Amino acid sequence: MQSLQQKAYEWSGVAASDAFAIDDTNLFETLGGLQPFVDLSTNFYNRVYDDEEEWFRSIFANSKKEDAIRNQYEFLVQRMGGPPLYSQRKGHPALIGRHRPFPVTHQAAERWLHHMQQALDGMSSIDPDSKIKMMNFFRHLLDPWIAFLKQSICCVSISPLVDVLQVFPPRHTAYFLVAGNQMTRQDLGAPCKHATSKPADE
Ligand code: HEM
Repeated sequence: MQSLQQKAYEWSGVAASDAFAIDDTNLFETLGGLQPFVDLSTNFYNRVYDDEEEWFRSIFANSKKEDAIRNQYEFLVQRMGGPPLYSQRKGHPALIGRHRPFPVTHQAAERWLHHMQQALDGMSSIDPDSKIKMMNFFRHLLDPWIAFLKQSICCVSISPLVDVLQVFPPRHTAYFLVAGNQMTRQDLGAPCKHATSKPADE
């Protein structure tokens, strides 16, 4: 039987050592403080708000770009070793809850990652090693989410995903929970008995 660790690795496509590499170093210090994060989020959201794909652009239609930029860079600064700017202003990130109003699909996650990769590629103030660490972190964050969506799991507690997306330690435990949740389900892949594709919240 496949171990939980193997399953978690398979889903993420990112080796655990790589996924956690952002915690081996202080990226906020490595990059020299706030400005690269502001620039990255600005580049990212400039791309998002100009996206030729209307379906993706429209996900952000009710958010002001300046607010979205600030929300993101404050979160990234906080998660990558800097001061807790996001939590000081808005409280716990609780990203799953905060993303609940939006149609976050597998396709949207891939588009999000595409824009983040492009935004990072355009940044000369971020060294190549830090870029790889950051992308691994983003993919690591999104992959359990994507895996759930791909497998159309419904009627399953999303609490493991809440753990993952809150991105506070121990994040690796969340992977085990996600994998464990999947492996212990008898009816995985069967149509949801509640005839809805919406996962149960808790
Ligand atoms: C907020 C969409 C993935 C971090 C938002 C907002 C949207 C959105 C529409 C509202 C904009 C705002 O007012 O800030 C998506 C989609 C994703 C995705 C479609 C991919 C499927 C991620 C990932 C992260 C992230 C991987 C982690 C870095 C945030 C943060 C906020 C946010 C910190 C601000 C939340 C708040 O304070 O209300 N996202 N997001 N998102 N997103 Fe995402």
